[in-house]
Amino acid sequence: MPGCSWPGKGEQPSKLGSTRQETTPASMSQPSASATFAQRLLAWFDISGRHDLPWQHPRTPYRVWLSEIMLQQTQVRVVIPYFERFVDALPSVRALGQAPLDDVLALWSGLGYYARARNLHKAAQSCIEHHDGELPRDFDALVALPGIGRSTAGAILSQAWGDRFPILDGNVKRVLCRHHGIAGWPGTPAIEKQLWRIAEDLLPDARMADYTQAQMDFGATLCTRHDPACILCPIQDDCIALHDGRVGELPTSKPGKPLPERHAFMLLATDAHGRVMLQRRPPTGIWAALWSLPEADTHDSAREWFESHLDAGYDAGHALDAIAHGFTHYRLTIQPLRWHGVEPRTSVSDNGDLRWVSRDELRSLGIPAPIRTLLDAQLRDTELT
Ligand code: ADE
Repeated sequence: MPGCSWPGKGEQPSKLGSTRQETTPASMSQPSASATFAQRLLAWFDISGRHDLPWQHPRTPYRVWLSEIMLQQTQVRVVIPYFERFVDALPSVRALGQAPLDDVLALWSGLGYYARARNLHKAAQSCIEHHDGELPRDFDALVALPGIGRSTAGAILSQAWGDRFPILDGNVKRVLCRHHGIAGWPGTPAIEKQLWRIAEDLLPDARMADYTQAQMDFGATLCTRHDPACILCPIQDDCIALHDGRVGELPTSKPGKPLPERHAFMLLATDAHGRVMLQRRPPTGIWAALWSLPEADTHDSAREWFESHLDAGYDAGHALDAIAHGFTHYRLTIQPLRWHGVEPRTSVSDNGDLRWVSRDELRSLGIPAPIRTLLDAQLRDTELT
């Protein structure tokens, strides 16, 4: 690349704010603006939730309990074959409690976190001794069993018997922190207490088993940590994080944990009038719907974008100083690439998501702070139109 001063490739930046295609239109998942949180989540669940998991058919206390323990640190698709083998071999609490521990561990082999299997076995023996070989339908008795905490007990009682108990696993914490705009690490005792209270207040009067599954499915598939599909969200109307543009920041990461690093190239091209090409960001993800510079993960994809949109030589550009920007849950290093006096390809005109913007117009657009700082510095000396 002669005459060009690109930085080394280094780490590949990850894509920011990508939009995911979902199969369910938002209109179908939003019953009415006045519906409660639970009603909206349940309406979403009816269409987009998971209804055919093996522990749902039949949804017995033993199967629910076993699935909850297996799912504690493990994804659904990994758990399914283990679950099926386990219940085939040990179909009841009594069978589990009476089996040699070695057999239980063999059935668990490959799932990891073997303390879960040991606790399960001990808990089954305790059920034989104290609860007639059944799992007790009682919150205090459940949390007294090894391996069952408050959230797991709630998940068992609500799914197995339809009892009105909240859950608060990592997915639910994320959803509630965003929906209620709660900052601070959710593992903090005060915040956890607040989240339990909210989880309790939001409980519906009926359909508890579905509501529990709905919360898990919603957190796992829609309100995800890195790529939430806010545009399809049934509770977007009153989501405080979405309203305040803080979805990417919440929930707050654990303090002291080193933040992941991400990298992105940003293309800063001005035309002969000093106007800069801006692109509107996707409707979800970080800086959702704000105007920013066209962005690419790699030099190759930057070149591809440049050559398909602009009528100039990619290699005539140069790299500006990198910019470090901290989000609550990761650090972003932006590598700006700069061109002067370029023209758009005739086939590419201004549209809703791509615009040539003069320095004066920049004031009226929503632009992320570090990008505005960069533009201010770069366009300061540029001739106005
Ligand atoms: N994680 C914990 N419990 C779950 C469930 N019932 N379905 C999906 N994921 C889960």
